[in-house]
Amino acid sequence: MKKILSTITIVSCAMMVQAQSLPMDEFVTQLMGKMTLEEKLGQLNLLPGGDITTGAAMQTEVGTLTQKGMLGGIFNIKGVDKIRELQEVAVKKSRLGIPLIVGMDVVHGYETIFPIPLALSCSWDMNAIEESARIAAKEASADGINWTYSPMVDIARDARWGRIAEGSGEDPFLGSECAKAMVRGYQGKSDGRDMYGDKERIMACVKHFALYGASEAGRDYNTVDMSRQTMYNYYLPPYKAAVEAGVGSVMSSFNIIDYVPATANKWLLTDVLRDEWKFDGFVVTDYNSIGEIGIWGAGNLAKGSARALMAGTDMDMCSYGFLRTLAQSLKEGKVTEAQINLACRRVLEAKYKLGLFKDPYKYCDSKRAKKDIFTPEHRQIARRIAAETFVLLKNEGDVLPLKKKGTIALIGPLAHNRANMEGTWCVAAVHDKYPTLLEAMKEAVGKDATVLYAQGSNICRDASLQEAGAFGKQTPRGDDDALREEALRIARQSDVIVCAMGESAEMSGESSSRANLELFDVQRELLAALAQIGKPIVLLNFAGRPTVLAWERQNLPAIMNVWFGGSETGPAICDVLFGDKVPSGKLSVSMPQATGQEPLYYNHMNTGRPVKTGADRYYKYQSNYLEVRNDPLYPFGYGLSYTRFEYSDVRLSSSTLSEGGKITASVVVRYTGNYDADEVVQLYIRDIESECVRPVKELKGFRRIHLAKGESKEVTFDLTADLLKYYDYDCRLVLESGKFEIMIGTSSEAVKKAGLVVM
Ligand code: BGC
Repeated sequence: MKKILSTITIVSCAMMVQAQSLPMDEFVTQLMGKMTLEEKLGQLNLLPGGDITTGAAMQTEVGTLTQKGMLGGIFNIKGVDKIRELQEVAVKKSRLGIPLIVGMDVVHGYETIFPIPLALSCSWDMNAIEESARIAAKEASADGINWTYSPMVDIARDARWGRIAEGSGEDPFLGSECAKAMVRGYQGKSDGRDMYGDKERIMACVKHFALYGASEAGRDYNTVDMSRQTMYNYYLPPYKAAVEAGVGSVMSSFNIIDYVPATANKWLLTDVLRDEWKFDGFVVTDYNSIGEIGIWGAGNLAKGSARALMAGTDMDMCSYGFLRTLAQSLKEGKVTEAQINLACRRVLEAKYKLGLFKDPYKYCDSKRAKKDIFTPEHRQIARRIAAETFVLLKNEGDVLPLKKKGTIALIGPLAHNRANMEGTWCVAAVHDKYPTLLEAMKEAVGKDATVLYAQGSNICRDASLQEAGAFGKQTPRGDDDALREEALRIARQSDVIVCAMGESAEMSGESSSRANLELFDVQRELLAALAQIGKPIVLLNFAGRPTVLAWERQNLPAIMNVWFGGSETGPAICDVLFGDKVPSGKLSVSMPQATGQEPLYYNHMNTGRPVKTGADRYYKYQSNYLEVRNDPLYPFGYGLSYTRFEYSDVRLSSSTLSEGGKITASVVVRYTGNYDADEVVQLYIRDIESECVRPVKELKGFRRIHLAKGESKEVTFDLTADLLKYYDYDCRLVLESGKFEIMIGTSSEAVKKAGLVVM
């Protein structure tokens, strides 16, 4: 046995020496020449790393499969030593010594957690988003991870869908910019190939391809049905942007597209992704998607696996379908050897691009794990970024910023709740390493003010609902009456009341669809009772999705949406609350007045019977509801500052534009308040006369600017003819002549307009 092992070691070492000198194609061809069919299928198999006790990798299923060459990669296992141990099995004990690719859902940070992606998109700050991904990659790579299942770029127009938390909101333009920034942050530079040699970058995986965000009725894993025009104009652009930014891999989605599961959809995975977009990385399924093809009713595991492979899927996450059925399907002529080879080649190429053949332990440096994770520097950056993501929705009478003096009552089930600060999808987070809001507030005010705390309420009255939404992140339960009494008592003793309320962290994210988007019963009741006391109240709304805040808007003077801000949530909230930072976040999603308005999005069509924006009553025979107006409670792009900005009229460098041409559109933004502050200037267009009906507004540019007190700045956008194009009924990208409106403003609703004619 000993002798055989040492021979294998020599074989794998010999292979590695070659790797340093051979170009990728040649290297992979030579390697594949040595591989059996089973070993090739092994490369297409991806499984969770599971729980491994250090020193016992070989006793686990993944250890055994790795040794037999029947596993291409593992995911969601934390700890560089465990990962190194498995990598050693792959390199030293499998016949060909092919290293594993090691994935994880590093979605918004590793141990230093950044705000959830929905919140990050509300910063409209692409440098910040790129930096968050860079730090996530640095920390993950220091702990053995070389592949992340991020960015999630699914456009989501329906706030009932919990996974809206994981993406960048409802807009394809903003979503595409966020997608590119994240890919750059994880992978470095513009192309996956630049990852060579850089230990601190990892491979990104854009997901979930495609249209997952359009799950019917906002219910997760549900049917999607969509026209090609809607796909091309609104839902596909962010995935395409990620591909253009050089993303190394793509994850297919759970849903159906044209009634074919995405994972088995050749039109999607080959015609669009490979042939149109020229994607040259590999495609991995989502968790057991191949197994689910059968549950959808589109073939058993063997048929589903064959369909998936032939459609263009390269790697099978968790269904074992590729590993266990493709050899037989090959015999039966249901799949081709060429397609198996192609899939295997793509997986091996990814490993080559990551530099794993050169050094399989490139990402297994335990010294880095000790020094590069959760560093004070990373936390400082996360805190700065988190403060940019909060959206100030209301601030009547300038309640905010608060002064650090007197007595502050901090009330609510999210105020001192460590596990529920950072949000969904934090596989590597260590909760007890960061402060709660209460702890951060005490630290922030020091001796200058007194902070009194009460939980105030449960998350919701229904214990089973609270439990269902907790997903391991429990919030202590108490008697609602007693909790409320205690809160009222401290509120009466205080000068100002700060309420930390909302959903718990896992009430958004995967499998967390909601049918009611209001603040939960007991929390609303508590707010109503607190409002009676007559002290200024600030609501900090924790949420992974738009919440219906109609009552709150009517009854409370100040509301700030803080989403889930990551590990530095507490200090970041205090920075903004006490005015050390000025809020600058703008909504990347429309906030509804009522759940029944969903799906709700700003870039909707006019209809043939529109009611005016801001209509204050119901109109018979118009497109509206009996009970609520069509407008959102807070529109896309909206967000207040502690200061005010004034916009000049829009100036166009020319009132006409033609194919291939470019003009500029500019405004002067003037500052009229008391703080230095950032503003996000937004540019929208409307195509007024067109063959196909176009949205009432479409974002086509934005700029985050900083204005010092008293300053004015001219903000200029380049407006190319390309930006005015759209996909028509034949999915051709066209520019139509005729009238357009160019709008610039502080939100999608507060804009100044200028007319443009396309010749
Ligand atoms: C999710 C993916 C995730 C995968 C692996 C699935 O359930 O849909 O987003 O990347 O699990 O954890």
